Amino acid sequence: MTATAAVLDRLAELAQLGAWEGGIDRALFSAADRTARERFADWARRSGLELAQDRSGNVFARRAGEPGRAPILFGSHLDTVRTGGPYDGAYGVVAALGAIELLRARGIATVHPLEAVAWAGEEGSRFALGCLGSGAFAGLNAQTTIDALVDADGTTFAAARDGATGLLPGVGLRADEIPAAYLELHVEQGPVLEHAGARLGVVTAIAGQARHAIVVSGESGHAGTVPMTQRSDALVAVAEMISALDAAVRETGDAVLTVGKLDVEPNQTNVIPARVTFRTDARSVDDARIDALTERLHALAAAARAHRGVDIRIDLLERRAAVAMDPVLRACVRSAVGALDPSAPDLPSGAGHDAMCVATIAPAAMIFVPSIGGQSHVAGERTAPADLELGVEALARALVEVDRALR
Ligand code: GLV
Ligand code: MN
Ligand code: MN
Repeated sequence: MTATAAVLDRLAELAQLGAWEGGIDRALFSAADRTARERFADWARRSGLELAQDRSGNVFARRAGEPGRAPILFGSHLDTVRTGGPYDGAYGVVAALGAIELLRARGIATVHPLEAVAWAGEEGSRFALGCLGSGAFAGLNAQTTIDALVDADGTTFAAARDGATGLLPGVGLRADEIPAAYLELHVEQGPVLEHAGARLGVVTAIAGQARHAIVVSGESGHAGTVPMTQRSDALVAVAEMISALDAAVRETGDAVLTVGKLDVEPNQTNVIPARVTFRTDARSVDDARIDALTERLHALAAAARAHRGVDIRIDLLERRAAVAMDPVLRACVRSAVGALDPSAPDLPSGAGHDAMCVATIAPAAMIFVPSIGGQSHVAGERTAPADLELGVEALARALVEVDRALR
């Protein structure tokens, strides 16, 4: 079997892990996530790569280069959102191994060590911090802060990591070493490449993000007896805030904002909502637009306090600045991708990626393959198998270009 065909087989194997009727649920340090990391480690061992992990759950597989050279690092994440598809993250991880195997099969050696990585907890779906593993690797979040994170069941990150489905047994800790460069291959997760009729894309920048948790407290009561004029209904206040935020982001332009999580208490048909907790996720490649939306959120909260008699607490969960891809690496990617698909466009990424964290310590660039119907974070996420294979070829060629450019 060719190295690119093996990528498809391995992706099909990973797609079984955490599968349920709503998609793939592979939360960090779940049994499914642990098995996925074990598979990655097995495949890497069988390919003769040197394995390591770190205290955040990131797993690394390295092919040696010349002594004294920092590695070229490349990969993506193995965790998913609760309704994930088979490729968001997993593709970039499996393709990283595939690219090393492809170069080996062709007898191509590199000066820099080649290091494939499976990042831990990119989605923030279990512990409310996106790019958790890559952020720790880049020193953006202290390990002590990460260790203290708590999931919805009250389990800390440290307890999950040190538990039965945590770190891999028998795999040593990676020595601290800053990579010479970072590459990430990912499905686009949007419709741009498909609409352009392209099979590959070169990422220009990754949108910045601000995520907030908002708790709105009103006054509960009987749904039949409290007059409308005497209510402090937390959900009505939240409904007004969300629709005003939706209008604000449309007015701002070149930005998106989502409220994807909302919890109502006590969540009973005939009880006035006492407390609503929701989260906002705002993104743009222009950080000023994100900051303007954050200001708007605070202004809307002040208005709701005044007009609806509710208390509101707003906590910033995370703020990641927009990141431009490194020009030298981007040129390498452009050269590799352009030879395979002359129609490949440049495009920004609205989705967040581990590359945005690694870019703070090393030059970084990304390659996209198309998503059918632009679908992602849903069970129906698909990419044509031939495009998945072409992406691995593009990554392998880009690695050779980067190896040369950084000599
Ligand atoms: C991760 O997929 C994100 O963009 O939220
Ligand atoms: Mn995702
Ligand atoms: Mn992803």
